Parts: sequence; C-alpha cells; structure tokens
Amino acid sequence: MAGANRGAFSGKIGFVAAAAGSAVGLGNIWRFPYEAGQHGGAAFLLVYLVCIILIGYPVMSGEITLGRNTGTNPYNAYKKLGSKAWSFVGIWGIICGIMFLSVYNVVAGWAFNYFIGISFGNLLQVEDYGAYFTASTADVSDNFVYSFGFMVITAVIVSRGIKGGIEKASKILMPLLFALLLGLIVYSFTLPNAMEGIKYYLIPDFSLINVETIYSALGQAFFSLSLGMGALITYGSYLNKKNSITEAAKLVTITDTLVAFLAGLMIFPLVFSQGQSPSAGPGLVFVALPGIFHDMGPLTGRIVGSGFFLLLCFAALTSTISLLEIPATFLVDEKKWPRKTIVWLSALTIFIIGLPSMLSQGAVDSLTNFLFYEGQSKSVFDFVFDVFSDTGLPLGGLLLVIFISRRWGMKKFNEEIAVENPRYINSITKSFLNITIRYLSPLILGTIFIVTVLQKFFNVHIF
Ligand code: TRP
Repeated sequence: MAGANRGAFSGKIGFVAAAAGSAVGLGNIWRFPYEAGQHGGAAFLLVYLVCIILIGYPVMSGEITLGRNTGTNPYNAYKKLGSKAWSFVGIWGIICGIMFLSVYNVVAGWAFNYFIGISFGNLLQVEDYGAYFTASTADVSDNFVYSFGFMVITAVIVSRGIKGGIEKASKILMPLLFALLLGLIVYSFTLPNAMEGIKYYLIPDFSLINVETIYSALGQAFFSLSLGMGALITYGSYLNKKNSITEAAKLVTITDTLVAFLAGLMIFPLVFSQGQSPSAGPGLVFVALPGIFHDMGPLTGRIVGSGFFLLLCFAALTSTISLLEIPATFLVDEKKWPRKTIVWLSALTIFIIGLPSMLSQGAVDSLTNFLFYEGQSKSVFDFVFDVFSDTGLPLGGLLLVIFISRRWGMKKFNEEIAVENPRYINSITKSFLNITIRYLSPLILGTIFIVTVLQKFFNVHIF
C-alpha cells in the first residue's frame, strides 16, 4: 500500500485543475489545429468528437478509477489487481510517458523560444514566418538552451510535490489561458476572409473522412486527454474517495475539448485571412500567429504576442509536469529513493533521450530523414510521436479496457466509482461506461490499432 506521505490532492477542484492542466497543453493549441488542418478541417473535428465521447471519456474514467482504487503507480496498480504479466502494461505506459515527454519538451522549447523572441527580441520584425520557423527549429544552440530550460522548470515544480507545486500552478494559469484564447478568437473573426476559415473548420465535407482521419483523430484524442500511459492512474492514486470520479472525468474531458475547439476557432480564421494553407503541419501555430501579432503593430503585438506564448508555455508546463510525474511516482513508490533525486535524475535522462528528436528538425540530416513510411520521409521526432503517441497510447487504452472488463471485472470497477457516490449505481453514466468499456471501446480500439499498424508502418491497406 502506498505510504501516507505520498501526498494528495486537496479536493475535487484541485484534482480537476491538475488533471485538466495535464490535459490542456500543446496538444490542444499546437497539435489539434494542425491535425485538423491536415485531415479535412470540420470532418476531422467531427470524428474527433466521436472519439472523445466513445473512447476518451470511458478510458479516462477507467484510468482514474484504477488509480483511486489501488492508490499506487500504473505498474503496481496492474500488478495488484492483475498479475505480474499485466504489470507490463503499466511499464509500457511509463515507457511511452518517457519517450513522449522527451519530444514534447522539444516543442515546449520552441514555444519558450518564441515567447522570449517576441518579448525581448525582434521576432515581430520578421518578414517570412514560415522560413523563420524552419530555421529556428533547426538551430541547435537555441533549441538546446530553451528545451533544457523548460525541463529544469518542470523538474523544480515536480520536486516540490503534489499540493505545493502542481495544483497551485494549474489553478492560476488555466483561467488566464482561457481568457486570452477568447480574446484572440474575437480578434481573428474581425479579419478579412475570416469566414472562409470558419467554414473550413465547422462545415464538414464527409468525403474527406478516411482511415487516416480516424486513426489521426483517435491518436489526437489520447494525446490531448493525457490518456493511455497511466498519467491519470497516477493522478487518480492521489484522489480522495469523497470525490466523484465520473464527474471529475466529465469536467476534464469537457474543458480539454473546449480548449482544443477554441484553439481551432482562433487559428483557422487567421490562417485563411493570411492566405496560408491549413495543412502546413507542425509549424501552423508558429507561423500563423506571429504574422498576426506582427500586423497588430509593435506595442500591441508585443503585449498580446508575448502573452499568448507565455500562456502556451504554461499550458505546456502543466503537461510536462504531469508527464514527469509518471516516472517520478513510479520510482518513489517502487525504489523509495528521495523524491528530489528521482525527479532530477529522470528529468536529465529524459532530456538526453530527447536530443536526437531535437536534432531531427533540420540540424542533422540522417535524423531529419530518418525513415520512410506512410508515403513520406519521417524524422526521429515524427517517428517517436508515431510509435509512442499515435500508436502506443491507443494500445495502452485498449489494454486498459480489456484489463478492466476481462480481468478486474466491471463489478469491482462499478463498486469503486460508487464509493461515497451511491447515485452512480442507477445512473445513465453507469450504463454508458459499462457498454463502452466492455464492448465498444475494445472493439473500436482493437480494430483501429490493427489497421493503424498495418497502414502506417507496413503500407498494407485493409479499407
Ligand atoms: N495532454 C497533453 C497535451 O495535450 C499532453 C500530455 C500531458 C499527455 N500528459 C500526458 C499525454 C499524459 C498523454 C499522457 O498537450
């Protein structure tokens, strides 16, 4: 059993703020718009929402329940309720978390770099932001400094423990992000041609939905909701029995989805008003937004622009915190080393693991053109996200629902949710979760997993 000195969240609001802080991050503001832009705009949005409801919410509830019931890290949770063999699912999650953070931190470094560039440098005087983005991601020394800096800040907060660091930061910063996003949406709507962007984002063209749309949307759902690697098992292990799991999961899911939706609503009018292509890929936000800040004039542009990238950094920070917490909680529980040592050691190791990804954005050619699949050349950066995020996280989710429904049992699952929450027993939420976790999620996740692996990595098309 977990020791009493593990720490805990102060209550439901603290938990929701931290879990939503984990969920809301680069995934919502940086990745969601460019994924949508590459896969048909509104068509992607629609498939994404279906994935959130049928897969995301059930898997999230499942993870939190497993965590709260066992009060321990993912590895130990699977071992306790399952067996030694099942504990490998927990280990797989921890591996995904480490690899994921190693690349995520590189992107966080870009955001940090843009924040500094707009606040103190001359980023607003740049003529061609597309060229600027390509050059800046290939710049080794800048990237090294900023992503190292980001990892250090993450480690400082995580080393302070659950209540002091993670919760406090999330509670202050999340509402700020929300407000700035709303302001930028209003602004973007006033730009010429904004309507084209809104249409692209909200009126679906169903002919654009194909297998790739579906697995991209599913991968994005796991990425954005922080699912599939046990982050929420970890957070759930710090959750008090008094708090309703299903309500907390609903709040987190809705918040996260809303922020992603709003990010799209902000970006597409900007992209269309500047005559850019929505399918530009990972540079989308880093190209469309500075252009607008530039047009706002030197002072306004600097204030709004630095505010935006600062909040993007904060959104990323509450996510890197949750990611670093996964190996940290695991090692604290299993090895009983001092928390500080563990945190700094993990942060440094993960930073080093991320170096090839960092250098694969143009700095080193063999890493930039690392492999060829899905009809295109892929960098180490792409490869790590493809394997450990787009494929690895849904796999973690699949194993989780199989574990809950076939090994732990729906009865025990329902009982855990109903502790101090008896209304759950006769609720629609219960019926929904039991149908999805038992049948729908395993079926959909299993099918998509097989199709994704075959199509993505082996170029075998079933559909
Ligand atoms: N959800 C975060 C985002 O959208 C990323 C993230 C943080 C994450 N912690 C996670 C993803 C744990 C999966 C698992 O930016």
